[in-house]
Amino acid sequence: MATIAEPELQFTTRPVDAPISAQVRAAVLANPGFGTQFSEHMVTIEWSEKRGWHDAVVGPRQPIALDPAAAVLHYAQEIFEGLKAYRHPDGSVALFRPYENARRFNRSAERLAMPALPEDVFVESVRRLVEADRQWLPTVDGGSLYLRPFMFASEVFLGVRPAREYKYVVIASPAGNYFKSGAPAVSIWVSEDYTRAAPGGTGAAKCGGNYAASLVPQAEAIAKGHDQVVFLDAVENKWIEELGGMNLYFVFDDGTLLTPALSGTILAGITRDSLLTLARDEGLTVQEGRYGIDQWREDAQSGRLVECFACGTAAVVTPVGKVASRSGEFTIGSGGPGQLTQKLKSRLVAIQRGEAPDPHGWVVKLG
Ligand code: PLP
Ligand code: COI
Repeated sequence: MATIAEPELQFTTRPVDAPISAQVRAAVLANPGFGTQFSEHMVTIEWSEKRGWHDAVVGPRQPIALDPAAAVLHYAQEIFEGLKAYRHPDGSVALFRPYENARRFNRSAERLAMPALPEDVFVESVRRLVEADRQWLPTVDGGSLYLRPFMFASEVFLGVRPAREYKYVVIASPAGNYFKSGAPAVSIWVSEDYTRAAPGGTGAAKCGGNYAASLVPQAEAIAKGHDQVVFLDAVENKWIEELGGMNLYFVFDDGTLLTPALSGTILAGITRDSLLTLARDEGLTVQEGRYGIDQWREDAQSGRLVECFACGTAAVVTPVGKVASRSGEFTIGSGGPGQLTQKLKSRLVAIQRGEAPDPHGWVVKLG
């Protein structure tokens, strides 16, 4: 179990004037959905070239006033993270690998020419928000408090250069299932007209612009009756990369697994990395490599590919049952959740929720 170091930055606490009633909160927590309900607090920290990180506040969640010339509104200098707080059987609350989110946040910051946030401050900001909003952890099975740290350029200017002022914010959202359909397996649409990330671009960074660019292909997937879009590489339009907000794994009939390698155009998912370790703990062979769309179809049809799943903080582990593209559809395995998918998901979730030992020191207890 990892512990949190005390950062130097001092946090000020501001109270919420009109707290939400326990009754209203209970109704939210009984059916949280994903991303539509929010807790009562937020953390804000300011950065300027002159003062560095300063004015750290845990206060009421409220709108942010922005000048119309704030740089983020024009050139999209914005990055974010996503992680969850889980309630453990002993009543404590814990985070899962938050330092990995802190490190990835800083890799994104570097790519977007933004200042780094000390890892301890990132984790402390999240810890403080969970402490303030502890009552917002859902009670439903599989529930968690989804935490969204983000940073944007707040400097008022219209020149194209890195801003000299930024705002870092953390908000929290009680979360249940990411997929509304509640289907046992999702169906995905292969985007052949749009790509997500090109070599040298921002694909490995978690910046808002990547998601803005994914909305049209994602809408296309939905319009065609699918849940998610899968992107191919931008050079050959052939190699499978990832979904709009999840990484992918393939399971073969010889018990081996494959996940697309981190080529610089894929987000280095923390769930992906955790599953790589857990699968190897099980004695399984996992390769990180390239897998082409034609091979995918052929292997699904021949039965060599037996399972496929998507993974991410929001989606956890979600089986992929069907894949469709302009050239037709194919089903993977039975079209439902596969055995290995379920096993790896259970192993991961049990660690995240404190129901199994944590051999890799991934869990950070908040008390
Ligand atoms: N890929 C993309 C594009 C994502 O947005 C996410 C979600 O954060 C992931 C993969 C999965 O990453 P993680 O497991 O760290 O949530
Ligand atoms: C997450 O899994 O945390 C993400 O940020 C993905 C997003 C599409 C909800």
